Amino acid sequence: MSLPMNKREFLRTSGTAGLGLLLGEAVWARFANMQVDRLAEDEAFWAAIRSKYRLKPDYINLESGYYSMQATPVLEAFLDKVREINFQASYYLRTTQVPDKAAARDKLAALAGCSSAELCITRNSTESIATVVNGYDWKPGDEAVQAEQDYGHMLAQFRLTARRYGMINRLVSVPPHPRTDDEVVSVYAKAITPRTRLLMVSHMINITGHILPVRKIADMAHARGVDVLVDGAHAFAHFDYRIPDTGADYYAASLHKWLGCPLGTGILYVRKDKIPGLWPIYGDWRMTDDADIMKLNHTGTHPVHTDLTIEHAIAFHNSIGIQRKEARLRYLQTYWTSKVRGLPNVIMNTPSDPTRACAIANVGIKGVAPADLAKTLLDKYKIWTNAIDSPAIGVQGVRITPHVFIQPAELDVLVKAISEIARKSSIG
Ligand SMILES: Cc1ncc(COP(=O)(O)O)c(C=O)c1O
Repeated sequence: MSLPMNKREFLRTSGTAGLGLLLGEAVWARFANMQVDRLAEDEAFWAAIRSKYRLKPDYINLESGYYSMQATPVLEAFLDKVREINFQASYYLRTTQVPDKAAARDKLAALAGCSSAELCITRNSTESIATVVNGYDWKPGDEAVQAEQDYGHMLAQFRLTARRYGMINRLVSVPPHPRTDDEVVSVYAKAITPRTRLLMVSHMINITGHILPVRKIADMAHARGVDVLVDGAHAFAHFDYRIPDTGADYYAASLHKWLGCPLGTGILYVRKDKIPGLWPIYGDWRMTDDADIMKLNHTGTHPVHTDLTIEHAIAFHNSIGIQRKEARLRYLQTYWTSKVRGLPNVIMNTPSDPTRACAIANVGIKGVAPADLAKTLLDKYKIWTNAIDSPAIGVQGVRITPHVFIQPAELDVLVKAISEIARKSSIG
C-alpha cells in the first residue's frame, strides 16, 4: 500500500508544465518563451519562485552552501510523510517502504543521468565517500591523491585509512585562479605514481566555489590506471551535468544542499564495473550478489520519510529547470562579485572565469580576520555568511552562497558592506 496521493503530488510533474502548476498558468505564460539568460535577470519571475520559500526576516541568508532550506511545497510533503508513516507505523515499513524507496532512487538516477543500478541513496556525501574509501582492500604502500582544498573531513577519512592500512596520501594544491584546465590537470598528474590506486577530486571546492575540470582530470587518471572519486557535494543540482559525463568511477553528493531535500539525504554513484571491487561497510545479505550496488546501502531502520521526500524536491527542482537555475545562480554571483572585484583591499578567492564558478564565491578583506568580517556582516548589515580562515591554503574570507530565493537588492547590501569595510580597513 503506497502513501495516499494528495494535491501536493502535483510536484511530481516536471518541466514547463510543472512551472505552470507551481506559479499559476497566468504567471508562467508571461515567462514561458523567455531565453534562459534573459530569464536569469527577470526579477518578477524569481520573486514568484522566492514566494515558495519561507524566509526568516532577521537576516539575508547568504549561507545556503551548508544546508539549503526546502521550498515550502517540499517541506509540506515531508511533513505529510512523517505523519503518514507514523500513522501506518510498521505496516508501512513492512509493505511498501522498499518499492517506494526504489521509486525515489529511479527518479534520482534519471536526474543524475545514470542507471538506477549504479546509484543508491545515502545520508550524505560523508557516508558516500566513506563507503568508497573504506570499500578498498588497501595494502601498505598503496597511494591515493587528494587536494589541500578538499573538504577537511573527507581528507581525514583518507588519513584514518592511512593509519589503519599503511596506505599513503599525496596532497596536491589546486591553483586558485587557473587560466587553463591543463594548469589544474597537470597538478594532479604530477602526484600520480605507479602505486596510486585512487584519486579524489572536488567537483566544486567548498570554500571558494571553484569548479574543477573533473572530466579532464578523470581522463588523465584513467590513462594512468587510477580510479577517480568525485566529491560532488556542492555540484549536484547546482549546475547542469550528468554524472557519467564527469568520468567518475565513484561520485558522492549531498541532496540537502542544492536539491533542497530534507537534512540527511545524499547519493553514491558507482560505475557498474566498479561495484564488485568494493567491500560494504555494513553486512547485508545482498553481499552475496557482488554486482548489486544495494550491497553498499544497508541502512538498518532509518527515517525513511526523508528519502520519500526526494521525489518532491526533484519535482520542484525540475519545475524550475536546471538550466534556468544554473543561469540565475551564476547571475547572482557575478552580480555582486563584479562590483567588488578589484576594489582596494578586497581579495577575491574565486576565479572570475564564469565557467569556473556558479553560485558560491569567497571574498576576503585585507587586514580583517574572516571571523570579524562575518560578525560585522551579521551585526551591522544583517547578512548571514560563513567565515573561512585557512591561511595554510591561502583562503581567508567569507563564503557567500545565494540560493534561487535571493534577490539582487539583497546583494546590493552585501556590496555596500564589503565596500565600506574595505574602505575602513585601508584607513586603519
Ligand atoms: C566538498 C564537500 N564534501 C563533503 C561534504 C560533506 O557533506 P555532508 O556533511 O552533507 O556529508 C561537504 C559539506 O559541506 C563538502 O562541502
